[in-house]
Amino acid sequence: GTQIHYEESVGSTQKIAHHLANEDAPEGTVIIAEEQLSGRGRMDRKWHSPKYTGVWMSVILRPNIPPPKAPQLTLITAVAVVQAIEELTGLSPQIKWPNDILINGKKVTGILTELQADADRIISIIIGIGINVNQQIEDYPDEIKNIATSLSIESGKKLQRAELVKLLLHKFENLYLLYLEKGFYPIKLLWESCAISIGKTITARTITGSIHGKALGITEDGVLMIEDEAGKVHHVYSADIEL
Ligand code: BTN
Repeated sequence: GTQIHYEESVGSTQKIAHHLANEDAPEGTVIIAEEQLSGRGRMDRKWHSPKYTGVWMSVILRPNIPPPKAPQLTLITAVAVVQAIEELTGLSPQIKWPNDILINGKKVTGILTELQADADRIISIIIGIGINVNQQIEDYPDEIKNIATSLSIESGKKLQRAELVKLLLHKFENLYLLYLEKGFYPIKLLWESCAISIGKTITARTITGSIHGKALGITEDGVLMIEDEAGKVHHVYSADIEL
């Protein structure tokens, strides 16, 4: 049973989701807004969320998994977004670990996964999804013009955001149920089939420093493995990736 909270204008759907999660909102609760006045991205960045142009939503999940496996949910979400975009537009988006979805090398979707957890138990996972849908290139602020795109720019069409949301929730539910039943392995295969960085030489900028080397793939927990020039394999939990 999905509960959908629809709002015209909010600060951040992510913030509302945290609040609802603290008030025992059930798994599957969705918060979606036409506009966010202070949309948030990873690493304290802003997420530009202008009115009526994109899909700005957060989903509350309560999986019974240990906290270190939480990154898997980001990857499940990324696969669901790719499938929904493919079905709506015929475009073939690619995933840049962990959570960026690109079309023609430019970012069309960001995913922000936040955890409320005890030492050994997840209380809730809040997954924020921002999809640029009907923006035109002139709508973007200068500093992101070269790195951001929208489904409309890439497909040359105006798209139905409600249709995209419907597809996305449907794809997500199927993948999430598959994951709960069969574990992460089938998702890992789907994820790897649309990932761009695997097998390539990349630089991962983490808060403690940079790691340069070949992206080998992801572990069963959804953690990125990078082999540096000395042959040492690093496990990267959170970083910005440069190709
Ligand atoms: C990123 O790429 O840095 C993640 C961006 C996540 C944006 C979404 S939009 C809906 C939800 N509410 C927010 O404030 N952020 C996420």
